[in-house]
Amino acid sequence: MKSRRSFIKKLGLSVAALPLAGSMVKAATLESNADENDQGGINQPIVISTWPFGKIANQAGWDILSKGGTALDAVESTARFVEADLSQKSVGLGALPDRDGFVTLDACIMDEKGNCGSVMFLENILHPISVARLVMEKTPHIQLVGEGAQQFALNNGHTKHDAPTESSKKSWEDWKKKNNYEPQHGLDNHDTIGVVALDKNGNLSGACTTSGLAYKMHGRVGDSPIIGAGLFVDNEVGAATATGTGEEVIRICGTHLVVELMRQGYSPANACKEACNRIIKKSPKYNKDMIIGFLALNKKGEYGAYSTKKGFQYGVYDNSGSVLKDAAFIEKE
Ligand code: GLY
Repeated sequence: MKSRRSFIKKLGLSVAALPLAGSMVKAATLESNADENDQGGINQPIVISTWPFGKIANQAGWDILSKGGTALDAVESTARFVEADLSQKSVGLGALPDRDGFVTLDACIMDEKGNCGSVMFLENILHPISVARLVMEKTPHIQLVGEGAQQFALNNGHTKHDAPTESSKKSWEDWKKKNNYEPQHGLDNHDTIGVVALDKNGNLSGACTTSGLAYKMHGRVGDSPIIGAGLFVDNEVGAATATGTGEEVIRICGTHLVVELMRQGYSPANACKEACNRIIKKSPKYNKDMIIGFLALNKKGEYGAYSTKKGFQYGVYDNSGSVLKDAAFIEKE
């Protein structure tokens, strides 16, 4: 188990290695100390996930972590829990389809060694996150897309399932009547499950799975299956995941940015806040109908979240129990 002292030493070394003036180094250190969730020690094991369905799904990850299991198994299991729930409209085969009526799924996974795997535009497979893990563990590649990803899944024990569900098909048919075949970003159509965990051995992993934007263009892929956008893990520093309008997360390499900011001494919450500010201040396409949220966990088990606007919630499960939290946000209504 890594000690708090060795973490601080690492943090100190990486901050000192930056070409910053002394005052900036001090600011980074202060920011690190300002984390409202700093428990003053190592908080492990812990699993945190996006949205209220993440809070429920965290139980699956906690069951593994509390018995000494790995963060990798915990994040996969948490993500699978949501994928298996066909009442979810933004994750898994129960989700709303694209504008042509196809449910296409995106997922990625990353472990403490920097191994990662991803599937995009995957159809008719119940557990994209487990296919992403197979890509990571059984192929020399990182990303598989579309028919190739599906064939790989079928060759490795997955089976084909029908999609969309009757209820999602009905929603799509209603949408077609009222809309002009135009994909739209908004609060109601973006609920990725992103999950990051720290296990008893001090290892971090993460997983991310989604159907993406409801009624998106056929072939559209968002941030969720892209390493460094929807998910990033660096076992020396921390892990982060994202939710919301994927185009904006991709534009700033969002989760890679959050982890690199934590490396510089930012607390998880402040790193997430800075990523949100980057989008609001710099994106040529950001608008107030979009919500983008980041969720981060560092090597000490400190966590934090921020979103561009009100509404993002996340679930936390650690030794003190399971809670749902409201993320801080930048823009008022
Ligand atoms: N964040 C999910 C997506 O944009 O597809």
